[in-house]
Parts: sequence; C-alpha cells; structure tokens
Amino acid sequence: MYDKLFSVEGRIVAVTGGMGQLGRQFSLALLNRNARVAILDPAAEKEKLPEHFQAFKENNKLLLIITDVTKRESLEKALEIIVETWDEVPYGLINNAALDSPPSAALEETGPFEIFPPESWDRVMDVNVKGVFLACQVFGAEMAKSGRGSIINIGSTYGMVSPDHRIYEYKSENGGNPFFKPVVYSASKSALVNFTKYLAVYWGKSGVRTNLMVLGGVFNHQEQEFLDGYCSRVPMGRMAREDEYNGTVIYLMSDASSYVTGAAIILDGGWTAW
Ligand SMILES: NC(=O)c1ccc[n+]([C@@H]2O[C@H](COP(=O)([O-])OP(=O)(O)OC[C@H]3O[C@@H](n4cnc5c(N)ncnc54)[C@H](O)[C@@H]3O)[C@@H](O)[C@H]2O)c1
Repeated sequence: MYDKLFSVEGRIVAVTGGMGQLGRQFSLALLNRNARVAILDPAAEKEKLPEHFQAFKENNKLLLIITDVTKRESLEKALEIIVETWDEVPYGLINNAALDSPPSAALEETGPFEIFPPESWDRVMDVNVKGVFLACQVFGAEMAKSGRGSIINIGSTYGMVSPDHRIYEYKSENGGNPFFKPVVYSASKSALVNFTKYLAVYWGKSGVRTNLMVLGGVFNHQEQEFLDGYCSRVPMGRMAREDEYNGTVIYLMSDASSYVTGAAIILDGGWTAW
C-alpha cells in the first residue's frame, strides 16, 4: 500500500516551460518514475534535449510540443495532441513557464522602479499570470470534467516578500548601473498565491487539487558576488540545487498529497523565515 503512496506511474503531466532549467528537472523526475510528460514550450524541438531524454521520447513517454502559454489556441492545440497521442486527458499540469530578469538582464529591465517600462510589465504579466490562467482554463477544465487531477503553480519567494535589493549593490559599487529585481516579477508571482487558492476552492469538489510551490533561488553559475550576497541571506547558507524541488513535485502529483489543496509550500532554505 505504502509503495504506491508516492506513485506517479502512468500519469500524464503537462509541464509548461519544460525546456528550461527547472522544467527539465521536473520532467525528468516524473519520467524516471514512469509518468508520461508533455513539455509545452516555444523552445520545444528547437533546442536539443540531453540524451537521456531521447529514450523517453522514442518510447512514447515524452512529447515535445511547441506551445505559447499566452495564446489559448496554442494551449488547445497542445491538449489535442496529448489526447490524440495517449487517448487520455492529462492528470497533471505544472505551470512553470515564466519570464524573469537574471542578474545579467538588460538595463531597462532592471533599472529603478520609477522608469520600469510598461511594455515589460505587460510582457511578463502575459506569460507569468495570463499564461497560468489560460493553461488552467484549457487543461484544468478538462481535468475537472475527468474528476481528478493536480495543478502545480510555480511561485517564488519574491512573490511572498520583496526582493532584497542590497544583494545587487555590488553592481553599482563595481562601477556598473544600479540593479533592481523588477517589480513585475514580484507582482506576477504574488498573483499566483491567491489564484492558487481561488482554483483550489473553485474546483474543490471536482477532484482537481491546486497548489503553489514557492521557490528560492537556484544555483546556475551566477557571479560570485551575487552568490555571496544571496547565500548570506539564506539560513541554510546556500542556493538550491536544481534537483531539490523534484521531491515536492512528485509529492503533489501523487496520492501522497490527496488532501492537500490551496497550499503554498515554501521551499527556500529558510529565506522567508527571518
Ligand atoms: N531558477 C530560479 O532560481 C527560480 C527561483 C524561483 C522561482 N523560479 C520559477 O521557476 C520556474 C522555472 O524557472 P527556470 O529558472 O527554470 O526558468 P528558465 O528561464 O530556465 O525556463 C523558462 C522556460 O519557459 C519557457 N517560456 C517562456 N515563455 C513561454 C511561453 N510564452 N510559453 C511557454 N513557455 C515559455 C522558456 O522557453 C523556458 O524554456 C519559473 O516559474 C520561475 O519563475 C525559478
């Protein structure tokens, strides 16, 4: 009985932004546990996937579908391809696609709040919020009709508390431009907190559970000065490894979390604890 508790075997999970750093991790963790995965990403097929993904593709366990989450028709087409291929509505949806501005981002995206471009606001909100809304409309609705399913929205600590801009001060101290983590990223990720609760309530009796994973920063070979500043703010003293969120994905996609909905699970090494 307990062997099956964390099982995701045979479940179909759509992962938006699945070509990115974490999307690949989530996809591989699910595939390695015998789930079937559909990666929905504009970069699907354009980029070469690491070799260990190819075997899953050849064995009909992995679909790569070029999809833009900001377009309803694109999501509908992706759902159609999944159902045609596997003759089943997905069990899971991971709303992972998002736009962010890393420490190396263009100047206008990371300048002072007062001059943050409204066009950038729209572009990020379109993917990070409207994209999640549309994917839930298209996929979640079918999951609800099927009477089962799990939606995981991917949030950020910066949607729970403000970014600490002091950790970027080294940039101007080194003669560069002042860097501010963009307001739109925080606003978009905080929108998912209540969006998740809304859907958990709305689909409460349908069998579809909706939860939010609130992630802290992931190590990705960032500049040493950034790493020093970031890690000094984390009680655990380090960034996350890219595979450290997989356990929660498996938990939320399996029956181990059968009574969990509307939750915001904080995975941040303690960043928001002090
Ligand atoms: N990496 C981190 O440190 C970190 C920290 C906290 C939260 N997060 C969140 O985790 C998630 C994954 O982050 P990541 O670092 O892997 O990002 P990433 O930039 O590596 O990947 C994002 C993916 O989304 C895709 N994408 C962009 N626009 C899209 C669209 N319109 N439709 C579909 N897909 C689109 C991109 O092609 C890319 O493959 C994001 O929601 C991010 O906000 C990441």
